[in-house]
Amino acid sequence: ANPTLLILAGDGIGPEVMGQVKRVIDWFGTKRNLAFDVSEDLVGGAAYDAHGTPLHDDTMAKALAADAVLLGAVGGPKYDALDFSVKPERGLLRLRKEMDLFSNLRPAQCFDALADFSSLKKDVVAGLDIMIVRELTSGVYFGEPRGIFEEGNERVGINTQRYTEGEIDRVARSAFELARRRNKKVCSMEKANVMESGILWREVVQKVRDADYPDIELSHMYADNGAMQLVRAPKQFDVILTDNLFGDILSDCAAMLTGSLGMLPSASLGAPTDTGRPRALYEPVHGSAPDIAGQGKANPIACILSFAMALRYSFDRGDEAARLEAAIETVLADGARTADLMGEEGGTPISTTEMGDAILSALDAS
Ligand code: NAI
Ligand code: MG
Repeated sequence: ANPTLLILAGDGIGPEVMGQVKRVIDWFGTKRNLAFDVSEDLVGGAAYDAHGTPLHDDTMAKALAADAVLLGAVGGPKYDALDFSVKPERGLLRLRKEMDLFSNLRPAQCFDALADFSSLKKDVVAGLDIMIVRELTSGVYFGEPRGIFEEGNERVGINTQRYTEGEIDRVARSAFELARRRNKKVCSMEKANVMESGILWREVVQKVRDADYPDIELSHMYADNGAMQLVRAPKQFDVILTDNLFGDILSDCAAMLTGSLGMLPSASLGAPTDTGRPRALYEPVHGSAPDIAGQGKANPIACILSFAMALRYSFDRGDEAARLEAAIETVLADGARTADLMGEEGGTPISTTEMGDAILSALDAS
């Protein structure tokens, strides 16, 4: 049987960019004999409109059964006034939680044709290709106790940074496995100088490496220095492993090394199922972009690159993922630009569909 893909296009530009991904998926099915059983469902505001909930139980069940889930984006002004319990974001949070997606992969890759587009000097970012692995389901965003409490005659806001050995162990393994597919180099970032959870983090990561990944070169860095190094000389890194809070900040920082939000894919992985594949959700980093939704202006590349990550990490087809990435590199080198990729000098941007057309032609020529 073909592997199964569940597509949840979501809201705003989600369905627009996903439309181009579907064409790419079809191309791999017909031209590369790499067929998927694709099904589609609703998430976010679209699901709320249809069912009064941002993620129907049936959709959740389909996501748990699928070999991989591809998500567009959720949210929009139409839903801003909704009760928190049915907000579009809750649909995405429920997927992450019930699929137990503890390992968030955020690549920062600089396409040569866009090196001028970075906020940094061209030579600092040209050829950059690093991956941040962020722990996604624990740490200070989830630790108990949390809340705003009365203390004496004032209030105190409390969050708790909490990591178990098991939580550190599993995300460390996911980073080391990833490093084996890349350049066998991991830098782990925490603040073991001032945080107990950081001390444990460093100890467990080192232990996992020594026991099961002796072929991986592991280094440790304090996260504040890491932030500085990421901007000063990002090419010194390959895989960066870090916790939820530091990963949130470091991955956004790394993202801007390479330019537009319209170019950034991501993957969130969980434990392997009985198929041997990890539970997996792939999505662009950007949101539903209500300011440009419905205008055919959205850049589909972030979403298409997310599918490339699915080919590599869920379906073990790094060769076809590389083919797709090379096609994108080609169209960018040929000057194809959606509006978000136009610099100060201006020019005429192409539409979402035209970017899809260009990528399919480049695939045909590959
Ligand atoms: P956003 O990422 O949707 O947009 C930020 C800016 O980047 C906008 O100017 C937008 O036009 C531009 N942009 C984003 N993706 C683009 C693309 N593919 N091509 C061209 N331009 C692109 O973030 P914002 O405006 O903060 O949030 C809008 C809505 O999206 C909100 O409802 C928010 O909650 C939701 N959101 C959803 C996310 C998700 O589904 N994972 C992530 C972030 C925000
Ligand atoms: Mg963030």
